[in-house]
Amino acid sequence: MYKIKEGMLSWILHRVTGVSIVGFLIFHIWGMSQMSKGPDAFNAVVEAYKTPLFRVGEVLLLGAILFHGFNGIRLILGEFTAWAMERNKLLAYLVYIFAGALFLIGGLIMWRAEG
Ligand code: HEM
Repeated sequence: MYKIKEGMLSWILHRVTGVSIVGFLIFHIWGMSQMSKGPDAFNAVVEAYKTPLFRVGEVLLLGAILFHGFNGIRLILGEFTAWAMERNKLLAYLVYIFAGALFLIGGLIMWRAEG
């Protein structure tokens, strides 16, 4: 049966997280432009940030940034050093472990914080 291996999963996740972060930045700049339209608009955006949809989105954004950053460093190291290239699989798993652990800890802190 067809199986997604760690290299392919990392490749897919790197693309998805990279494009997602760019999407977030565009949305964030648009949100800030809305906020500048006056006190009511400002408060409406602040209230929107407190909704479950946005709070889940913020936690997912943390995960995307963590994975993309750590995996990006792995990719750069693999491009420039034979040491990292030879340990590609190990480093890919370390990225999952580090990004995953920080995602769980950070996500929990964010989720439990008052909005
Ligand atoms: C620690 C910070 C970051 C590192 C080390 C990093 C590293 C990388 C690397 C090495 C690639 C090329 C991957 C490849 O060609 O195989 C890449 C692609 C990309 N990165 Fe980043 N990146 C970082 C932050 C960001 C941020 C903040 C954004 C968004 C604003 C971003 C968006 C993208 C996008 C859209 C791509 C192209 C993905 C694709 O090919 O479809 N990256 N990144």
